[in-house]
Amino acid sequence: MLQFSYMKILLITVSARGHAIAEAIKKSRHNPEIIHVCNSRNPGIKKIADEQIVVDSLMDFDPILEIAKRTKPDFAIVAPDDPIGAGLVDALEEIGVKSMAPKKSLARIESSKSFTRDLVEKYGIDGNPKFKVFDKSSSEEEIRRYIEDDLDGEYVVKFDGLAGGKGVKVSGEHLMSAEEGVFFALKCLAGANQVVVEEKFVGSEFSLMSFVSGEQVVSMPAVQDHKRAYEGDTGPNTGGMGTYSSADHSLPFLKQEEIDKAHSINVQTAKALQEECGEPFKGILYGGFIVTKSGVKLIEYNARFGDPECLNVLPLLETDFVDICQAIINGDLNEDMVKFSSKATVCLYITPECYPNSKDLKGKTVEFPDIEDNARIFYGDLSEDDDGALRLGGSRTAGIVGIGDTTSEAQKIALDLCEQAKGPVRFRKDIGTESLIAKRIELMKELRSN
Ligand code: GLY
Repeated sequence: MLQFSYMKILLITVSARGHAIAEAIKKSRHNPEIIHVCNSRNPGIKKIADEQIVVDSLMDFDPILEIAKRTKPDFAIVAPDDPIGAGLVDALEEIGVKSMAPKKSLARIESSKSFTRDLVEKYGIDGNPKFKVFDKSSSEEEIRRYIEDDLDGEYVVKFDGLAGGKGVKVSGEHLMSAEEGVFFALKCLAGANQVVVEEKFVGSEFSLMSFVSGEQVVSMPAVQDHKRAYEGDTGPNTGGMGTYSSADHSLPFLKQEEIDKAHSINVQTAKALQEECGEPFKGILYGGFIVTKSGVKLIEYNARFGDPECLNVLPLLETDFVDICQAIINGDLNEDMVKFSSKATVCLYITPECYPNSKDLKGKTVEFPDIEDNARIFYGDLSEDDDGALRLGGSRTAGIVGIGDTTSEAQKIALDLCEQAKGPVRFRKDIGTESLIAKRIELMKELRSN
């Protein structure tokens, strides 16, 4: 009989993404002990973890390092961007704890927009837009001329750092004139040394996340996220209202060569990161891509699992997540270790009715239906009373994932469950529907024919 040694994992995370990661760990044949470190209790992870330790902030490293010293985990998983970008992985390594997440220098692929654009250009990787990095010595006039003359007034302005999803503004969506673009760029320069101004792409966006250990890169199923708050892709941007993935692990509006291209960009970027930083990237490289009339372009990189994307893909993982984490850390990752079932998924995020506009409903109770094998529920910004009652926080409440042979079947499963949720909550009914997907296919047909 096979014997597995006792294993302990330090899981540093919050949110529904963390709940999905915890579930993937719990399914492992290693049956590891999970020590969950968080800044607010997640009732979903609480049921899975062996110990849940609440700290004031995941950005205050000393208490986390004390927990690591006391619990002596085999390794850590650091899920959120802020502590990764600020160097928690480096600090853990200094006390002998390795992580399934990149070190600070490598995490610049997410935390510095100028680093990413410069890296992609320097290493001759396809996918960059026309772009320019401005610094504090740049004049208002130089920025205006670049927006008006070089980019014909179709532009994106990116704060050169982590800004909780609020650092990127796009002309025609958030910024209505060149003047507003210049104003926002100057505002960014007040908070960081540099700002990136770049060409705006038109097309359909998708996410391709890869498990990466240095030059070993294994991609997960592609996912499409929906950031706008309301149906028909209207309203303000959010953390993501829902996502879908297809049974063939591509997306209905993508050609095979386009998904291959996105994978190839991830492979080349992982290699470039290793060369540039002198050490391997270890963790999740999440490419935010857009397919345009002139092919696949890179919008941005993240150095972590996407939320909700993680909720779609981890329930489909047929191989052992803990083996994958260990292989990433040890540098022996290969394709045979990563198999996803040929199923489609639709994740619909339940949020407070007022989300993302106010936190007025915080503390109201919410109830969810029972979930069967063809679905999952991952808890986000929720708290739990001693009697088990669940209460809303101010942000996304829970991701409900339907799993089926087709996207349409998965959508019906997720929709039916969301409709049974009780409380002052809402969700987008259109994500993953045949009609919304048909619009994406139509848009790409139109763009490709021009
Ligand atoms: N799905 C968007 C993000 O995780 O940043």
